[in-house]
Amino acid sequence: MGTLAELEAEASSCTRCALAAGRTTVVFGVGDPDADLMLVGEGPGRDEDLQGEPFVGRSGQLLDRLLAEELGMPRSRCYIANVVKCRPPANRDPLPQEIAACRPYLEGQLAHIRPRVVLTLGNFSSRLLLQRAEGITRLRGRTYPFRGGVLIPTFHPAAALRGGGQVLAGMRADFVRAKLTLAGASGAKVGAEAAG
Ligand code: URA
Repeated sequence: MGTLAELEAEASSCTRCALAAGRTTVVFGVGDPDADLMLVGEGPGRDEDLQGEPFVGRSGQLLDRLLAEELGMPRSRCYIANVVKCRPPANRDPLPQEIAACRPYLEGQLAHIRPRVVLTLGNFSSRLLLQRAEGITRLRGRTYPFRGGVLIPTFHPAAALRGGGQVLAGMRADFVRAKLTLAGASGAKVGAEAAG
């Protein structure tokens, strides 16, 4: 296995799927390569495609706020990536063949970073990494053993921006679950949601 920087260099000229034709920038990932916490979203949007960094638009601002408020952590202390590294046209869902073509990059990132906690944001990353067919509403609310660490599925921040209070409260509870897991406590003890 080469280095993470070598993998990023390889991705920067990737033509493994049709998304390559429409991208401005390959949005590989950003953050601390030694991070304990890795966040995995879906794919770059317009802002990310232009800037080359994941979660820099409105969803990213909410993500930064939740990281600060619930985990006391700046984004620079985590590693942030997406299931697909190139923007799908008009922000459509990534197709199965695009997800499959891009998967070796995500797998490489996970193998290099070896985070203690992976927080998956939304359906695509949660289903892919858990190898489950259920939607995020069913999957979230608990921790899953994942490659020697823990995976915590949560909603995508865009869903909280659309869906309002309940989705946001669920995300906050999941971020607290991540914090407790990182601190070595049992994530199962979180009851913040029911308490409102
Ligand atoms: N949504 C995602 O899933 N990823 C990003 O990087 C930005 C928005």
